Amino acid sequence: MSEPGNSLPTTIIIFGASGDLTRRKLIPALFQLQEQGRLPNPTRVVGYARRPYTDETFRDLVHDGTVTAHSDETRAGHWETFASMLTYFKGDLDHSGDFGRLAEYLTNLEGGPANRLYYLATAPEHYEPVVRALRTHQMNKENGGWRRIVIEKPYGVDLASATALDKTVHTAFRERQVYRIDHFLGKETVQNVLVFRFANAIFEPVWNRNYIDHVQITVAEEVDVGTRAGYYDQTGVLRDMFQNHMLQLLALTAMEPPASFDADALRNEKVKVLSVLRQPEMADTVRAQYDGYTGADGVSPDSTTPAYAALKLYVDNWRWQDVPFYLRSGKALKRKTSEINIHFRCPPILFFNNSDGQPLEPNILSICIQPDEGVHLTFNAKVPGSSEIRSKLLLFHYNDAFGDAALPDAYERLLLDVLQGDAALFTREDEIRAQWKLIDAVRAGWKRGGAPLVTYAPGTWGPKEADELLARDGRVWRHGCGDRIG
Ligand code: BG6
Repeated sequence: MSEPGNSLPTTIIIFGASGDLTRRKLIPALFQLQEQGRLPNPTRVVGYARRPYTDETFRDLVHDGTVTAHSDETRAGHWETFASMLTYFKGDLDHSGDFGRLAEYLTNLEGGPANRLYYLATAPEHYEPVVRALRTHQMNKENGGWRRIVIEKPYGVDLASATALDKTVHTAFRERQVYRIDHFLGKETVQNVLVFRFANAIFEPVWNRNYIDHVQITVAEEVDVGTRAGYYDQTGVLRDMFQNHMLQLLALTAMEPPASFDADALRNEKVKVLSVLRQPEMADTVRAQYDGYTGADGVSPDSTTPAYAALKLYVDNWRWQDVPFYLRSGKALKRKTSEINIHFRCPPILFFNNSDGQPLEPNILSICIQPDEGVHLTFNAKVPGSSEIRSKLLLFHYNDAFGDAALPDAYERLLLDVLQGDAALFTREDEIRAQWKLIDAVRAGWKRGGAPLVTYAPGTWGPKEADELLARDGRVWRHGCGDRIG
């Protein structure tokens, strides 16, 4: 930990403590970090919400999602230690006066200078009121210890609202204190995109338009909108998945090597990519709903919100000119898979065909983000004793290489980074803006009727229009992390 004040006690204040995110992600991640001895000592966690919980009821509420191995005595012992760090403060997110009481409570709890991490795990409409209240009660002031704020997605609903939110946030916090979460960046395999590219000498020289034909990024989900239908119908796949996760995956794939792995150096390179994304022609976009979407509880019967989208994008720079990046994401698809497939060009002269007389498969590098994390590379091999050539796979899987316990949850990594003051895996304000600019343009085009809303059967890979998008370019979608070749 490099910042002054980091040897001080640390308090993590979670706004929205009775919610799903706290129970499913934040508390389990903090518990894991505590078990591994990676939290600053001492750390206190204060849950803030409106429900009339006591410390005890709050601990019980978050216990079940956290300690899965009840029979394990060591874990139960760790829980006791962890539970003693947890307290609850009842307050309303929209009542500034409650923050005054919280300020006093924290001062008494800490008994002296302390670092504070404010985590906004609330519905987005509370972000601005909370920031204002923190400012009103001077809880943003770095009096001895640091103050940092973590803000969940969605960060605004368009460029204008994200800019307005930034403005409010900056009335209380400097950019270096602000950590906008995109939980995909905390996934090990997403970080491995950078390691793969920049810790190995053999890939970077071919990582450009001279060798790469096109890139496909798929984030497919098997689940439908389920219990989140109300939120989802207001949001849609572009704002839910593309504005953040999908464009971040694209940026990590396409960015130039940063001068260092310092947060700003890294984010400067991502911004350069995001800000030269060409706005797609409407014909290069597909928007779709799965059959039955409008019948879901919480979805308006005449909703036109897409639960699936595919976009063909171009990065207008020297390295990537004319290389299409095809992105697709949706709900109720055939299976859950997140993957980046890099399709290389074919050799300049082909001496061989495969057994059907068809041209050989090009090399494809698949970065498998989830669920079976790893890297696949297809290459062509001669079948022994025959003149037949077949495409085969080189496989690397995290589980095989590092064992089952090797992959921590994204939130563990991200929370630790905030505590250590490392913002490299968090989205900076200019990244968010560049992302919104593209998404706003596509949404505006759709609003003008630029791409018809089409449908697909649940349990498939999406609408035929998305296949046609690639077929027009003589290409097909690939599931490089699931379908084994040969
Ligand atoms: C969230 C979206 O950001 O990411 C969800 O709001 C989506 O709709 C989720 O299901 C996917 O994340 P993961 O980590 O489960 O792949």
